[in-house]
Amino acid sequence: MTDVFKGNFTQQEPIPEAAIEAAVDVMRHGRLHRYNVADGEAGETTLLEEEFAAQMGAPYALAVASGGYALATALRAVGVKPGDRVLTNAFTLAPVPGSIASVGAQPVYVGVTEALTLDLEDLAWQLAQADHPKVLMLSHMRGHLCDMDRLMEICDAAGVTVIEDCAHTMGARWNGTLSGRHGAVGCYSCQTYKHVNSGEGGLLVTSDEEIAARAIMLSGSYMLYSRHLAAPDPEVFERVKYVTPNISGRMDNLRAAILRPQLQDLEAQVDRWNARYRRLEAGLRDTPGLTVIDRPEPEHFVGSSIQFLLLDWSADGVEEVLRRCAARGVELKWFGAPEPVAFTSRYDSWRYADAPAMPKTDRVLAGIIDMRVPLTFSLEDCDQIARIIRSEVSAVFQAGGAASGV
Ligand SMILES: Cc1ncc(COP(=O)(O)O)c(C=O)c1O
Repeated sequence: MTDVFKGNFTQQEPIPEAAIEAAVDVMRHGRLHRYNVADGEAGETTLLEEEFAAQMGAPYALAVASGGYALATALRAVGVKPGDRVLTNAFTLAPVPGSIASVGAQPVYVGVTEALTLDLEDLAWQLAQADHPKVLMLSHMRGHLCDMDRLMEICDAAGVTVIEDCAHTMGARWNGTLSGRHGAVGCYSCQTYKHVNSGEGGLLVTSDEEIAARAIMLSGSYMLYSRHLAAPDPEVFERVKYVTPNISGRMDNLRAAILRPQLQDLEAQVDRWNARYRRLEAGLRDTPGLTVIDRPEPEHFVGSSIQFLLLDWSADGVEEVLRRCAARGVELKWFGAPEPVAFTSRYDSWRYADAPAMPKTDRVLAGIIDMRVPLTFSLEDCDQIARIIRSEVSAVFQAGGAASGV
């Protein structure tokens, strides 16, 4: 009998009881706006920022309405102006170039390697050009970290400010340093499919007092910034408060209440994700025609999704694999599709930005297959999914589908 997987790829775990209780408390007292606090009360949002800053080893943190808002705020806070060019990954998702466009700047794409990380040679080449962009919005897309030591060397030498998009790397590390702590600003998403879930929400961290003060003013703090606990001293705000616009995008106390207990569980959740990832990876290894992405030793990743390559396969062959896996209950996404589908799109789908031909990147994108790994999957589910993918990839490959179309 054909093995069919019955699980749901978009079903996350329920919100933990402690978070539900904290949320109910907020609703009972009714003070949902972050600056609506009782005498002596800090408020859930402020406490979330204080705890997240400590967890990330950062002096300053800010909670906002979404990950995309955190990215745009970071761009504004480091001084990106309309008309500026900002380097970013060709392999990422729409909110990343979207955040650049939202401040009136232009994305300039850097290629992707077969390790699914930013192509550092391409980056070095871009930075060797006269008048190169001064900011890199680095997306750790699908949790793959490039050599962050080398990246920072390249960017520091060229005077480039790095903003890290850690939507897929909250809790990950490179050589022991937490993702988001290499660049000037680290930005995180708390949207349902990420590592903590408040429906929508974002966080950012920085060690730079002016960036922090500007970000807090930008997020819509009016003149209430002194209520923040993970914030610089008031004199820093004196320097920025008249020249920094209020672009409201605050987090509220209800979401913050839901997030605080989840952040305490983050490390344990990372271990659970990685146990599932390793089972999938082991089950996929040595499948003919399929390339597993080897994870570098210095990378401590969060396996909340898994990717593999069907490198140099025909489009028909890839589509046949996707169709056959879907018929057996396994939902795979493909970054090579010519048209954007659901959450998945490519750099050349974002037609508001110039995209010169990127043949090396196109070759990799055409082979990237992507799958969510929700924590509602058991280890046995992961074994079953890997078995299904393995058998369908092998069947199409052996029938010659990889090269010639089917
Ligand atoms: C790579 C990446 N960066 C940023 C974001 C933006 O996060 P949010 O949905 O919280 O705005 C997402 C969301 O899917 C993402 O996948």
